[in-house]
Amino acid sequence: MSKTPLPDSDDINITSTLMTRHCLGIAATGGGKSNFLNLILKQQMMRGGGAIHIDGKSSKEAALEFLNLARQHDRWQDVRIINIADPDFSNTYNPLLRGDQDEVTSRIMELIGTKGDPFFRGQAARGMRAIAGILKVIGKPYNFGDLNVLMTNEAAMKQLLEDAPKATKEYSDFKIFFDQMTEIDPKTGKRKLNANKLQHTFGDLSSRLHSYYVGTAGRVLNSYAPEVDLYQAIKENLLVYVALPMLNKREAAVDFAKFFISDLKTAIGQIQNDKYKPHPTYLTLMDEFSSYAQPSLAPVFEQARSANVCLFPFIQTYSSLTDSEAGLSDDFAAKVFGNTWNKISFLLQEPESCEMMSRAAGEILKESVSESFGESLSFASGEDDSSALRTGGRGKSFGKSISYSYSAVVRPEDFRNLKDGEAIYIGRNSVYKLKVPLVILNKDNKTLDFPRFKMPKIQGLSVAERYQTLSELEM
Ligand SMILES: Nc1ncnc2c1ncn2[C@@H]1O[C@H](COP(=O)(O)OP(=O)(O)O)[C@@H](O)[C@H]1O
Ligand SMILES: [Mg+2]
Repeated sequence: MSKTPLPDSDDINITSTLMTRHCLGIAATGGGKSNFLNLILKQQMMRGGGAIHIDGKSSKEAALEFLNLARQHDRWQDVRIINIADPDFSNTYNPLLRGDQDEVTSRIMELIGTKGDPFFRGQAARGMRAIAGILKVIGKPYNFGDLNVLMTNEAAMKQLLEDAPKATKEYSDFKIFFDQMTEIDPKTGKRKLNANKLQHTFGDLSSRLHSYYVGTAGRVLNSYAPEVDLYQAIKENLLVYVALPMLNKREAAVDFAKFFISDLKTAIGQIQNDKYKPHPTYLTLMDEFSSYAQPSLAPVFEQARSANVCLFPFIQTYSSLTDSEAGLSDDFAAKVFGNTWNKISFLLQEPESCEMMSRAAGEILKESVSESFGESLSFASGEDDSSALRTGGRGKSFGKSISYSYSAVVRPEDFRNLKDGEAIYIGRNSVYKLKVPLVILNKDNKTLDFPRFKMPKIQGLSVAERYQTLSELEM
């Protein structure tokens, strides 16, 4: 195995402006992703910047590392923690507070993804849109429990019709939807809920929403005045650690990550329209990105850049970005690749990722020179004496031909031969082989204490509290 054709660099400085260009990271397990992300975090904390770290392998230990890193750089007071698996070790957060009717609808619809019957999915989306619309004009904060009750309880739905301003389109839209879900009772002549229809429309969705109202996740996610607001967090350069319990509560973790990313998208959209932009560039580190990536994320890369928010999606394999089971595709992978100007690869194992990264590093034009030297002798036969050979001509030739061919800057196998701490950085115009320093984390402090806040009491929609439903009886 010959050496890579890359220069080894002692020090590579990524300019601050380049940090507004997103960075894709790729490595097999144990390749050094977490260490690299910690290195980035450390530097970001040092320069006073903010970051969201979405950790797919969340553990108490990882959260403690984050806290200690912040303590070490005098940033403890900026830490916020979102951990749906452990409400005692989490700030409160409600991903339903921001976004317009369509944003909230698509956020909720992520829950059922592209699975199931498209007709009922369409029905559910229309219903959800009607609810999100009327809630917007009512203007009170709501939570997962409220949505769940609004999808199952007639009295709660009627209450919305009473509370909403009547002269709005949102009111009429909801009224139309409500009428579709009801029928005239032949005995009384009054409208009553068609429970079957409602169940068909929202059955899947309402039970999923219910699981975010009860249990440990419920205690984190349903406050009307939560401690963490992403828009505010970005503006204030806060350090948000998001623990995803991917190992023990995979489905809930993935769903939650989708809510979170969708809320982040809304916050980024808002900042994009603001005069204010975070400074320095706000970082969003997304470990185990593929497990919660969704097609609607692709445009966020574009928006984030103009909001001065930089995304660091980190993956294990290229093919995880094309996984059709997860609703992803070649097109999605191409968008992520195309939108991340910086790429860093650590040790890779399977051939496709090696191939794709080699391609991302590009090709260089190689000059190859071939020289030829020739001598020729020709004879002419004489007419008079056929036995005698006379030299007819003698020539020498010298030829030099230069040909150009393309060859990979980094060959696929080079990615498979990276050692601990070695990485290949692929920038817009440059490729380097790097040695990434190992971040030594301070593990002495074992206290998991983090900033908590007493929030003002805010009157929310509270239909979940008011209407006794099956969902509540189960609590
Ligand atoms: N830059 C580095 N220099 C030396 N060793 C490293 C470096 N990065 C990672 N390692 C070693 O590899 C192990 C796994 O690294 P980690 O960052 O946890 O990988 P990943 O997150 O990709 O699974 C670390 O515990 C450490 O021992
Ligand atoms: Mg890791």
